[in-house]
Amino acid sequence: MTTTVRTRVAIIGAGPAGLLLSHLLADAGIESIVLDQRSREEIESTIRAGILEQGTVEILESTGASERVRTAGSRHDGIELRFAGEGHRIDFDALVGRSVWLYPQHEVLKDLIAARLAAGQDLRFGVTAERVEDTASDRPRVIATDAAGAPLVIEADFVVGADGSRSVAREAVTGSSTGGHFREYPFAWFGILCEAPPSAAELIYSNSPDGFALVSQRSATVQRMYFQCDPATDPSAFSEAELWDALQRRVPGTRLNEGPIFQRDVLRFRSFVAHQLLNGRVALVGDAAHTVPPTGAKGMNLAVADVLILERALRALLLDRDDRLLADFPETALRRIWKAQHFSWWMTSMLHAAPDASDFDRLRQLGELRSVVESEAGSTYLAEAYTGWPLDATR
Ligand code: DHB
Repeated sequence: MTTTVRTRVAIIGAGPAGLLLSHLLADAGIESIVLDQRSREEIESTIRAGILEQGTVEILESTGASERVRTAGSRHDGIELRFAGEGHRIDFDALVGRSVWLYPQHEVLKDLIAARLAAGQDLRFGVTAERVEDTASDRPRVIATDAAGAPLVIEADFVVGADGSRSVAREAVTGSSTGGHFREYPFAWFGILCEAPPSAAELIYSNSPDGFALVSQRSATVQRMYFQCDPATDPSAFSEAELWDALQRRVPGTRLNEGPIFQRDVLRFRSFVAHQLLNGRVALVGDAAHTVPPTGAKGMNLAVADVLILERALRALLLDRDDRLLADFPETALRRIWKAQHFSWWMTSMLHAAPDASDFDRLRQLGELRSVVESEAGSTYLAEAYTGWPLDATR
């Protein structure tokens, strides 16, 4: 027996993009249903990046999506770039008067889920979207299987694919589940969480002869750190002593605080932008539309920017029957997406050791890093991009 339900906006995916969109739409009086095949526990416990742009923090706070972000999160006014045995601080506050906040993505998700459930949002966990149909009509539909395994159809005025890098909505938008512009990288990140206080007050992005490492943090007692590894690495292949050795060698000049490692993962990365973001009455946002390599932590921030553009367009469409902003959605979103793609690619290629790098490549890379840290213009570009371009005009 198939159950059919109706809503104004069907949102596939209860990640930051889908949840924030439902939150903003509800504020505008537009009801939505949010589906996710994962359980609430899985969504709230999956470890992701931790850096929020200033504009992301302002949106989460001003819309009531997260009341804890500024109090439980910590403000960072700069980062350190380390290379050739020296550290160089990029002072965001002095260069651009902006900052970032360290507040893990799963904490943002906990806040958003609590806020949506408190507001009576129809939020369904364990529901698997199979495909999107009738894309071009004004009644697109999501064909799904509910948590009990029964068929479920959601009819809507508009469908949003906020369903991550393995999006099922993508096919309805681009004609292919994988189609897009993309680039692979010959390395990955080995990530650990450990019980030890931060090794440094700010994040350290280190380019070393052994490869890249990132020293980040989670709290006064937990550190998050990453080091460059082969994409085929098995996370269980290293002993704790080997992990500390690998990390320590890549951050010469800092004695890392060691402690029990309670989580390890290998993050493969790629750059991807779907060929299309909109088809009829179906749009893609967040990782369904694009993925970026993690260096510079743009992923979730870019999802928030997409959502702000789409939400404005949906308000015009569904409240005023004006489809002009929707027609502009792909171009407006893509301007920022490609800037963030460039920044993430640039940080990645400037800081990592490519396996086939020649001496020329390595020396050129040091020249590039010096061009950033020894120039106010170079440092300002990094500070501006890292803290986030303005969201108003979504540039
Ligand atoms: C973190 C991840 C990133 O990709 C980054 O650039 C900075 C911080 C993190 O998980 O803390």
